[in-house]
Amino acid sequence: MKKHWLMGGFVGVIALAAAAFVQEQDAPVAGGDSPAAYPSGQPIAFPHNQHAGSEPGQNNMDCMFCHFSAERSVDAGIPPVSTCMGCHAVIPGTQNPQEIDKLRNYATTQEPIPWVRVYKVSDHVHFPHMRHVNAGLQCQQCHGQVQEMTVLNSRAPEWGGDNMGWCVDCHRQSEASTDCSVCHY
Ligand code: HEC
Ligand code: HEC
Ligand code: HEC
Ligand code: HEC
Ligand code: HEC
Repeated sequence: MKKHWLMGGFVGVIALAAAAFVQEQDAPVAGGDSPAAYPSGQPIAFPHNQHAGSEPGQNNMDCMFCHFSAERSVDAGIPPVSTCMGCHAVIPGTQNPQEIDKLRNYATTQEPIPWVRVYKVSDHVHFPHMRHVNAGLQCQQCHGQVQEMTVLNSRAPEWGGDNMGWCVDCHRQSEASTDCSVCHY
């Protein structure tokens, strides 16, 4: 299913990108391991806006194309390298090509990308994504306007997962349970 969507939506982009890639293959590899190559605090400066934004030139991808388990699991899920390579095997970067080189290195060495976790509740708290997504809440209500962000390395002001009042207030307003035991192990 994902493949079909990909073929439908990105066939034009891929064809163009493949042509550009052929021309770029001999270009020297930029970036490298200097600290300046990691200005984002993430191992790869992954731009959410270029993928999920709806401005001209952005790709308007559904959040759940990558965060594939948000509607059926506790965790939203972080995509494996293979998801990225479905496009970036042929799509080079035009603004930060050294970041795509890093991505391809992870794919070649079959190493998982060591993304730095940003959103986290305490170990004694239980937060099930699927219950919230299936209740019709938008990702943006808790994570802010992710589709406009470049590199995601700090929490949006919308999020209050380190503050019990944030969870409980919304649960009261939406008539969800406020039993201690639904949120605490
Ligand atoms: C092309 C794949 C892709 C798409 C589409 C995508 N994301 Fe992500 N997302 C990632 C990757 C990779 C990371 C880990 C790197 C990072 O934090 O930037 C991530 C990280 C996140 C995080 C932080 C996770 C943490 O570490 O706590 C949130 C929140 C998030 N994405 C929300 C969204 C939302 C909301 C959308 C839709 C507007 C979206 N993402 C679309 C790939 C994607
Ligand atoms: C559906 C296709 C698709 C998928 C899947 C995808 N990307 Fe992209 N990505 C693109 C396109 C198109 C661009 C824009 C390329 C450009 O403008 O140079 C892009 C841009 C980027 C850039 C910026 C490069 C630049 O030069 O500006 C990075 C870094 C990147 N992607 C990393 C990733 C990572 C990491 C994943 C997996 C979590 C991923 N992408 C998944 C299509 C995709
Ligand atoms: C009601 C608030 C809320 C909504 C709605 C929500 N999230 Fe989250 N998200 C959180 C909280 C709280 C955490 C930390 C959870 C934890 O530590 O177990 C989190 C963590 C994450 C993470 C990092 C860890 C993981 O779960 O894989 C990603 C990625 C993420 N959210 C993406 C999304 C996406 C994409 C959507 C929409 C489809 C979404 N979230 C909807 C509150 C929310
Ligand atoms: C913006 C509103 C909102 C916020 C913020 C929110 N929730 Fe929820 N939550 C809901 C709704 C609505 C439901 C009910 C879904 C349903 O009926 O299935 C729910 C359901 C749940 C459930 C399942 C309850 C059950 O009866 O089994 C748990 C657990 C939960 N939330 C934990 C949390 C935690 C922990 C936080 C804070 C980190 C949080 N929620 C923040 C709206 C929210
Ligand atoms: C809707 C989810 C939710 C419900 C319901 C809930 N809590 Fe919490 N609780 C949280 C979150 C989120 C935190 C903040 C965790 C943190 O400090 O990061 C928290 C923190 C706490 C702490 C502080 C622990 C610490 O880390 O210092 C205590 C004690 C606590 N809760 C007890 C209760 C009791 C007792 C009830 C029932 C009256 C209750 N909680 C109901 C989500 C919830």
